[in-house]
Amino acid sequence: KFKMNSNDPVRVNLSPDNTACCREMKLSDTFDTTNREKFRPVYHFSPLYGWMNDPNGMVYKDGEYHLFYQHNPYGSKWGNMNWGHAISKDLINWEYRSDAITPDAFGTIFSGSAVVDHNNTAGFGAGAIIAIYTQNGDRQVQSIAYSTDNGRTFTKYADNPVLVSEARDFRDPKVFWYEGTKRWIMVLAVGQEMQFFSSPNLKNWTFESSFGKGQGAHGNVWECPDLFELPVEGTNEKKWVLLCSLGDGPFGDSATQYFVGTFNGKEFVNESPSKTKWMDWGKDHYATVTWCDAPDNRRIAIAWMSNWQYANDVPTSQYRSPNSVPRDLSLFTVDGETYLQSAPSPELLKLRDVSKKRSFKVNGTRIIKDMIADNEGAYEIELTIENQHADVIGLRLYNDKGEEVDMQYNMTEKKFSMDRRKSGDVGFNENFPMLTWTAIESGKDELKLRLFVDKSSVEAFGDGGRFVMTNQVFPSEPYTHIDFYSKGGAYKVDSFVIYKLKK
Ligand code: FRU
Repeated sequence: KFKMNSNDPVRVNLSPDNTACCREMKLSDTFDTTNREKFRPVYHFSPLYGWMNDPNGMVYKDGEYHLFYQHNPYGSKWGNMNWGHAISKDLINWEYRSDAITPDAFGTIFSGSAVVDHNNTAGFGAGAIIAIYTQNGDRQVQSIAYSTDNGRTFTKYADNPVLVSEARDFRDPKVFWYEGTKRWIMVLAVGQEMQFFSSPNLKNWTFESSFGKGQGAHGNVWECPDLFELPVEGTNEKKWVLLCSLGDGPFGDSATQYFVGTFNGKEFVNESPSKTKWMDWGKDHYATVTWCDAPDNRRIAIAWMSNWQYANDVPTSQYRSPNSVPRDLSLFTVDGETYLQSAPSPELLKLRDVSKKRSFKVNGTRIIKDMIADNEGAYEIELTIENQHADVIGLRLYNDKGEEVDMQYNMTEKKFSMDRRKSGDVGFNENFPMLTWTAIESGKDELKLRLFVDKSSVEAFGDGGRFVMTNQVFPSEPYTHIDFYSKGGAYKVDSFVIYKLKK
């Protein structure tokens, strides 16, 4: 059962086999649903019905975070793209709204962003929320729609589209206000590059420059850009970060890379052209974008937690794919190179319920069965480990069916890895079984790790988010046990805390 907060109709697909069975639901309707699927996450955002991919139009206004998203309201496979919509006051509890922007003669509604037009530059009213999105029809064009009721309803601009091109892949506008030139900036993914446009009013756009040739990873098209400025930890400096998703990540297909450099309102310059930097070292972290106008100058990112290689095949039926947990971004420097740090957003602490804390030494194996009572498969593990000569620091989450996720710090090779090859149902697509890994900073004996486990995912945050790894898993029952193991020496778990996480 669910409650709706307005009389906006919601289209509901009630067919598990994804046939075109669709009903319009109104506030006055109440119905039971078999929608509580086994793999539906407990605390990650997932669409009520149907397919979801990229987060879109993330904007904060008057105490509310808006999350729009690529949504197929008619079924749980990709197609018929609309902008789904949800609102939250705390990034944790989301209120489902009906789809905000729906297809028209210019095409279906692809990814894009939203801004608050404080100065009424577009003439739709001061404080209007304006969505800028791609329409996918005969070609890809950019359109706008505005809301003067805090995102509850949107009106499409009568003179859409506002930006067209001959380019076939011309999409995913990220728009923000640049105070330096007093212009709106749009970053657009165009084939294998990013293009920058500027506008005084969100309606008339001027091409400024392009970026991409010979920079970072290529392969397949670039998608879902974002561009923002962040302070560099321990300095008075600020740098610009350009996010870019693409289908050629370190473990196959979908991943988000980023560039660090300067932006002057016209041009982005990458300070390390020979380096490729990844935001997340798992297989399921794509289309990462950040909130506009978030309070306290925070830069909060969220990603789609899947991979185009198998997103349409994952073993769910009423819905497909959640988002990652929100992350607060910052910059840090190691050996003269600046990197992005993605820390779990502090709001996630609100999810913590019952906890248990222990400390112990591991020399061989230490088994902890039934880590926490009433474990529904939604928990956080917070670890501080002191290495005392171990070559391998291992931990294994597992269930009574012999399904497991194995994680290791390899101290000799300076790597952290996550192996989901035996994590449960892995056979629905040949690209799903996988061990993912990342290099870790050398010379550290104190290791800090936070693991967010939900019904069908594991997100690992190392060293406060200096490395992150996000992977989906589909166990037949939750991982209720954990083994700590060591190879080649001992280590001390200074603190092992497990929190049950609330819905
Ligand atoms: C990225 C993407 C975008 C596009 C959207 C369509 O996942 O391919 O480039 O706008 O999905 O759903």
